[in-house]
Amino acid sequence: MVQKENIFPIGIGTWNIDCENIEKEIPSLVYSFSQGQNYLSLYMLYNHGEVVKKVKNFIDEVGRENLFITVNLEPTIVNISDVETQLNEYLQVLDLRYVDSLQLHSPVFSKIPLVEVYLEIQRLVSVGKVKYIGISNVNLEQLTEIHEAVSVDFFEGVYNLECKIYEDIGVLEYCKCHNIQFVCYQPLRRGRTANRYYSLLLELSKKYQKTQNQIILNWIWKEKHLFPLVKSTNIDRISENIHSLNFDMSREDYEKMNQFRSNEFDSVVIDWNGAGGVSIDQLANQFE
Ligand SMILES: NC(=O)c1ccc[n+]([C@@H]2O[C@H](COP(=O)([O-])OP(=O)(O)OC[C@H]3O[C@@H](n4cnc5c(N)ncnc54)[C@H](OP(=O)(O)O)[C@@H]3O)[C@@H](O)[C@H]2O)c1
Repeated sequence: MVQKENIFPIGIGTWNIDCENIEKEIPSLVYSFSQGQNYLSLYMLYNHGEVVKKVKNFIDEVGRENLFITVNLEPTIVNISDVETQLNEYLQVLDLRYVDSLQLHSPVFSKIPLVEVYLEIQRLVSVGKVKYIGISNVNLEQLTEIHEAVSVDFFEGVYNLECKIYEDIGVLEYCKCHNIQFVCYQPLRRGRTANRYYSLLLELSKKYQKTQNQIILNWIWKEKHLFPLVKSTNIDRISENIHSLNFDMSREDYEKMNQFRSNEFDSVVIDWNGAGGVSIDQLANQFE
């Protein structure tokens, strides 16, 4: 079993894995693993469950005990028993006895109070089906309420150079103070941040002889101490991403990354309670 302390900083994302060409995708996942990547995030919603089914071949090849597997609950929880039913589906499809972390993906859609859902997840920990408790896409108030009821270990949220809302609303600080590991999805905004050729990224890229995406990943891990969760099934880009960890930038340059703001993303109104606005998991997709 991989303990929380032994997770490699860059996780393996699975959104948009090409299920039609899975025989080409699996060797890339195995390559990621060979480079140290051992955190795998799965979601039944991706390609109607096909991603989870196909990724089983990867898990079997590298050995379940060598991976930290996080799975997501779909927002369709109507009865509390749906939590275990959904978990059982992952266990059955992947032929696992337990998952490492279980998290509710989109709490805004939950018909059941979040604390009730989390007390049920805690029960699943006590019976050994889940090792750690995760949460995704909540705000500070919701996180605080859940963490006071059960002890949260992981928070999966959007964080990248342009989308710093979780820092602004105090979630990063809360996670740091309560030993909750923040895992950031869309750290590269699916390549769109680099495609904007921001002068800061171009300057640091030239100075350190690294790609813009390496500058971003380096800053997220070395400066912010967050785990970037990146999807790549391209060997060159996997290698590029891994090599983002083996250099340091100056304090002044990390500060420049810290200070960077995007007026565009800062002005988006987020829907935290179903009262209107943009769903947080779509924030990074609002602009090219
Ligand atoms: N909890 C949530 O609400 C939530 C929301 C979104 C995502 N996620 C999870 O987080 C993971 C990461 O997010 P994401 O996949 O949306 O975005 P991302 O990791 O920022 O970007 C992935 C995209 O960028 C490309 N890429 C990867 N490394 C690159 C590099 N060095 N240079 C240029 N392009 C690169 C990948 O293509 P190639 O494969 O061709 O390299 C892929 O198309 C997802 O896969 C998913 O598991 C969770």
